[in-house]
Amino acid sequence: MKTVLVTGACGFIGSHFVRALQGHTTYRVVNLDKLTYAGDLARLDDLNDHDRYRFVRGDIADPEVVDTVFQQEAPWAVVNFAAETHVDRSILDSAPFLKTNVDGLQVLLEAARRNGVARFVQISTDEVYGDLSDGDRSSEEAPLRPSSPYAASKAAADLLCLAYRRTYGVPSLLARSSNNYGPWQFPEKLIPLMIGNAIGGRMLPVYGDGSQRRDWLHVTDNCRAILLLLERGEAGAVYNIAATEQRTNLEVIRAVCAMLVDQGVLSAQQALMRIRFVADRPGHDKRYDMDTSRIRGELGWFPRIRFDEGIRHTVLWYLEHREWIGRTTQGDFADYYEAVYANNWGRGS
Ligand code: NAD
Ligand code: DAU
Repeated sequence: MKTVLVTGACGFIGSHFVRALQGHTTYRVVNLDKLTYAGDLARLDDLNDHDRYRFVRGDIADPEVVDTVFQQEAPWAVVNFAAETHVDRSILDSAPFLKTNVDGLQVLLEAARRNGVARFVQISTDEVYGDLSDGDRSSEEAPLRPSSPYAASKAAADLLCLAYRRTYGVPSLLARSSNNYGPWQFPEKLIPLMIGNAIGGRMLPVYGDGSQRRDWLHVTDNCRAILLLLERGEAGAVYNIAATEQRTNLEVIRAVCAMLVDQGVLSAQQALMRIRFVADRPGHDKRYDMDTSRIRGELGWFPRIRFDEGIRHTVLWYLEHREWIGRTTQGDFADYYEAVYANNWGRGS
């Protein structure tokens, strides 16, 4: 039985990917996760006794931990989701982003080089291309122009993967996806933050004028794409993954509010009153837009979940999991929230 080492699978996308592997393949999964503030065992707790699943708590930046996992498990492939992922936190402190997203990746690539793997899928992001003017679109060959410390750390990781492919022959490939949404996303990200704030009676903060555009992709569509890349992607290649359904942030927030009004969480009047235009994110990217013809043409992938359907299901899921939002936003989250929303990214308001 082939073993796939999936790192960061206690997080949002990684946990959905493990479910895709369990449901559609016969691979055994080893999940290596440090359990940072963003990791939660609850996302996969029903798999604990499963004979094709093992959880190891550990840091991808710790060579001893990674070597031990490689010796014990001899993984056939690696899919690296483990990362610090929130742009706003990278503005407050970039150090953990470089440590995990760059140093951690280097440790994994070294282990893959020394032990040999058939595939190494690095989970990247559309943010490495930076923002675009109206009408522009990023192909996989577009230059990298990251804006935030988060995006810069992901761009560095991409280049390291390609260098390890060229220099040492590590069969790495890059999956660059747009903004994911769906159940279990940590409530610091736009969509769950809006839902959590609406439930908690707080404001709905819009950075700047809310005209920035993002391309929202349902997490299960992204995981289907990553599974295809694991099995049929070409080593050394880069693949853009997006729904190509762009919306402004304000449109997304209004769509969430409409669902919340529909479900009786807010009145229409309250929804309007709660939307608050706040200080913009420093270096905020205005627009992303990726050309996805490679993955569509070469692998036949296309997204199946339309935003209207996906957002409805997502909002209902959060309303049924209010306790989870409350639990994950206890403790340090209040300090983070205050630094960004009350204290203008730690610069004072
Ligand atoms: P997340 O923040 O929900 O989860 C990250 C997971 O990684 C957590 O379980 C955390 O405990 C773990 N982790 C962090 N540092 C670690 C370390 N040093 N060692 C081991 N585990 C560690 O992230 P997500 O939103 O699921 O994103 C997963 C990947 O997808 C990331 O690489 C991210 O850059 C990329 N990505 C995310 C999106 C998105 O919209 N969420 C879009 C494009 C790409
Ligand atoms: O594009 C892919 C990226 O998407 C991933 O690589 C990142 O890991 C992931 O976090 C996400 O980054 P964004 O910065 O695009 O996502 P976020 O949910 O933080 O914000 C989405 C947009 O909404 C962005 O333009 C900022 C805006 N925003 C966000 C928050 C949290 C607000 O206007 N108000 C908010 O309170």
